[in-house]
Amino acid sequence: MQTQVGIVGAGPAGLMLSHILHLNGIDSVVIENRSRDYIEKRVRAGVLEHGAMDLINAVGVGERMMKEGMVHHGINLRFDTETHRIDFGKLTGRDIIVYGQQEVVKDLVARRLEDGGQILFETSDASLHDIDTDSPKIRFRHNGENFELKCDLIAGCDGFHGISRPSIPEDVLTVHDHTFPFGWLGILAEAEPSSEELIYASHERGFALHSMRSPTVVRNYIQCEPDEDINNWPDQKIWDELQKRMETREGFSLNEGKIFEKGVTPMRGFVVEPMQYGNLFLAGDSAHIVPPTGAKGMNLALGDVKVLADAITSNYREGSRDKLDNYSRKCVVRVWRAQHFSWWMTSMLHPFNQHDKYQRQLQLSQLRYVATSQAAATSLAENYVGMLWEE
Ligand code: FAD
Ligand code: DHB
Repeated sequence: MQTQVGIVGAGPAGLMLSHILHLNGIDSVVIENRSRDYIEKRVRAGVLEHGAMDLINAVGVGERMMKEGMVHHGINLRFDTETHRIDFGKLTGRDIIVYGQQEVVKDLVARRLEDGGQILFETSDASLHDIDTDSPKIRFRHNGENFELKCDLIAGCDGFHGISRPSIPEDVLTVHDHTFPFGWLGILAEAEPSSEELIYASHERGFALHSMRSPTVVRNYIQCEPDEDINNWPDQKIWDELQKRMETREGFSLNEGKIFEKGVTPMRGFVVEPMQYGNLFLAGDSAHIVPPTGAKGMNLALGDVKVLADAITSNYREGSRDKLDNYSRKCVVRVWRAQHFSWWMTSMLHPFNQHDKYQRQLQLSQLRYVATSQAAATSLAENYVGMLWEE
């Protein structure tokens, strides 16, 4: 088996890369260890930055997103039982769109298959070989047979737990790793959103987030222990906790409904540099993850592959490796901006230690500053809608 670009992983990064390369006349094969059904149902991110929305539209897969996605012109910060809106439109002239990651994945899979693209689902035992040579290979099993895929380049888009990053010799990579002392318990429920835009609530009991997927489905999160046992959280206990953390002076009440999905995610910030070794290029969660408070993960993944697709195209069209060689340097600047913003949002909104009254006052002071200063609010807004897409 042979292709120009071998892609490991059919998440937003791998699928988008394969699609853009196809538009540019470059051949790729995507191998994915899960089933199509599984990746199309995996519930994760929901917020797309302005630049991510533009990219999805520019490459012709935005039709359903523009119909079903919900454009938001701001977010709400809630603390001290009051709500403060950050107006993205007024502060930045840009906005965001709420559209589930699994919908982006569905749209990309459908389009790749329509265009005759090769996505091999339910592969196993993938391993990378000769990645520091001109003919790297991916070996894997599919339908009970062993395969070797010869490539010019390999894109490691296989997420945080994939095989690509560990295929790079350890002494080549610098690892930056930070764990936060809490996680998020997330639910999807059948209920009408209780607010037109997202509500990020910082409460003494812990952080809470109200988000949505459609006029009839909500996505809510609460701060929990990083290793929280989901079995300790019967549905009504989750709603009761959300109501307490979302309280306002005016007696706000969150619409409740049937919970049909729940899970716990620990929180971590992680970056490896460089995002390249020989002819293996890492993109998305395989190279970096952020705590979810800034809603940046999927956006970073799409941002990486935009740069990577351009570099690969220039490699074939102009015969120049310059952009490939500069890929990591270019991406990590945007990655670190998003890391800092995600860390900052996380630190401002989550009580780290219920007994640390000093730290809590610092958080409230920061929140009041963002809510009342146009300069501080603009800083939040420009980071939230996304920076460094055009560089
Ligand atoms: P992934 O989506 O992880 O895709 C990797 C793919 O590789 C998967 O399909 C996997 O099955 C496959 N794979 C793994 N190993 C192998 C192997 N050995 N062989 C073959 N295939 C393999 N981001 C945002 O931007 N906004 C948000 O609002 C947001 N909220 C989030 C909320 C939660 C609860 C979580 C968990 C994440 C959230 N994120 C958010 C982060 C976002 O979901 C990720 O950053 C995004 O999925 C990264 O895309 P990716 O393509 O790099 O990796
Ligand atoms: C969602 C997830 C996030 O991490 C976030 O910051 C905002 C919204 C969501 O899933 O809708």
